[in-house]
Amino acid sequence: ESVVVLSGGLSHERDVSLRSGRRVSEALRSRGLEVVEADVDSLLLPRLAELDQPVVFPLLHGGAGEDGALREVLGLLGVPFVGSLGSSSRVAFDKSIATTVVHDAGVRTPLQVALPHEIFRELGAATLVKALAEQIGFPMMVKPSRGGSALGCSKVLTAEALPSAMVGAFAYGPVAVVESFVEGTEVTVAVVDRGAGPTALPVVEIRPDSGVYDYAARYTAGATRFLCPAEVPDEVAARCAAVALRVHDVLDLADISRTDLIIDAEGEPVFLEVNVAPGMTETSAVPLAIEAAGWSLGKMCADLVRAASM
Ligand code: DAL
Ligand code: MG
Repeated sequence: ESVVVLSGGLSHERDVSLRSGRRVSEALRSRGLEVVEADVDSLLLPRLAELDQPVVFPLLHGGAGEDGALREVLGLLGVPFVGSLGSSSRVAFDKSIATTVVHDAGVRTPLQVALPHEIFRELGAATLVKALAEQIGFPMMVKPSRGGSALGCSKVLTAEALPSAMVGAFAYGPVAVVESFVEGTEVTVAVVDRGAGPTALPVVEIRPDSGVYDYAARYTAGATRFLCPAEVPDEVAARCAAVALRVHDVLDLADISRTDLIIDAEGEPVFLEVNVAPGMTETSAVPLAIEAAGWSLGKMCADLVRAASM
């Protein structure tokens, strides 16, 4: 049996994915597993067909890796893989859909409007700015509905800045989401299931030096301070863990997910998004939370592979 670590792909997060793939491959090899590293190209399916009972560990961020497309193909081929099914990934990856589902399940979410590019074109920026200022108010966050690593995301303080923020989000996809900005403590909670049911890992608090957890703050060593466990009261941490488990459950996720939250002024976790292929780079939160839980990344990943292959 060999583990195929899939990384790269053609999304905007290709570079991040290669870093996650490298790290997980090393961790799995340190546990004695045979690892094949593969990119997503025309050679992938023939390559999988050559291997004896491959198990895939998808570490593709964004695009076909996280939106479920590739997972659906693996499912059709009967190739076992670590992580959520294609259908669940599709819902989780789309911020406008996932937020609605999670909100309906009783979790706090920002006020959110989904904005397709055709509507932007038809109504024009001026009309939209007025409507969004009334409906959402400032400050607001504008994001691509399907994206990652904060690419195309902007915090918007004034009406004047809103049109270019929307254009920035549309650069990454045909639908943007416009949300109320939630002031508070930024945290993230991983949920893992090594075969015995989902467990939340310790809450990680995110403190970017620049104040904004953007692409540079995510992937530049030392640019963000992570506190694990988070410096929040125990009952608040417990609420965050409960929300991450609820999100994992209501979206029917499997094996591993990471839910990003803001703890608001009332100490309540507000859902920002969930990742079915959380970053595993040297500067990512999940490997840190795994260590804080007293596990090693290698053992954890090896357990996920074993559970997936059963
Ligand atoms: N989308 C990046 C990889 C993350 O959420 O960690
Ligand atoms: Mg994400």
